[in-house]
Amino acid sequence: MRNYFKPAVFLISLWPIYIITYQIFYDQLGPEPVDRIINHFGEWTLIFILLTLSMTPLKKITKSSEWIKFRRMLGLFAFLYASIHMLSYVGLDYRFDFYPLINDVLKKKFVFIGFSAWLLLIPLAITSSDKMVRLLKQNWKKLHSLIYLISIFGVLHFIWLSKTIFFKPLIFLIILIILLLFRINFSKLSSKI
Ligand code: HEM
Repeated sequence: MRNYFKPAVFLISLWPIYIITYQIFYDQLGPEPVDRIINHFGEWTLIFILLTLSMTPLKKITKSSEWIKFRRMLGLFAFLYASIHMLSYVGLDYRFDFYPLINDVLKKKFVFIGFSAWLLLIPLAITSSDKMVRLLKQNWKKLHSLIYLISIFGVLHFIWLSKTIFFKPLIFLIILIILLLFRINFSKLSSKI
């Protein structure tokens, strides 16, 4: 039964692609189709980053390490959706004219931080294989702790582009804070005080 979990999670993780394909096919993207596609993949990138971060807390809560098996796949989906999000912005909004993109990255802080988050995801995606885990040894963990910074950049990107924290960005922020709190070892902290 457990053998089916991974393929099932893989198929469920394709949900954002099913939805957008359906909406394109049935002409349901609304009055601003390009914005709709960019925002759709932006939001799903953030959801997948948070899902990736949820696996360790779920392991702690359920005392089962099964969750960790899905972490790499979810992280790679986050990278896939971040890349589609970025490419739809460059491709659909700017027709692959990189000059205005560079201009946006330099002038708009929300684009700068989103772009930084995407750049930081690249080394994590490249080093996600078992071979790389063995090759990088202790450094692999250090490198992959970049996901915390990426998640903070992702939420900041959402807050800055929304110009207000209410309500969706706030929900993402609260979930992120809860997930990050799970990483703090309170018993270690209290023994130091
Ligand atoms: C880890 C990386 C990223 C995450 C988590 C992310 C997340 C998001 C989210 C949640 C939204 C808003 C969705 C909504 O309103 O429903 C969004 C919108 C947007 N993002 Fe990103 N993003 C990332 C990377 C990037 C990159 C690399 C770029 C461009 C270089 C970019 C440019 C934009 C733009 C232009 C919008 C739409 C803004 C508007 O509505 O005017 N993002 N992103």
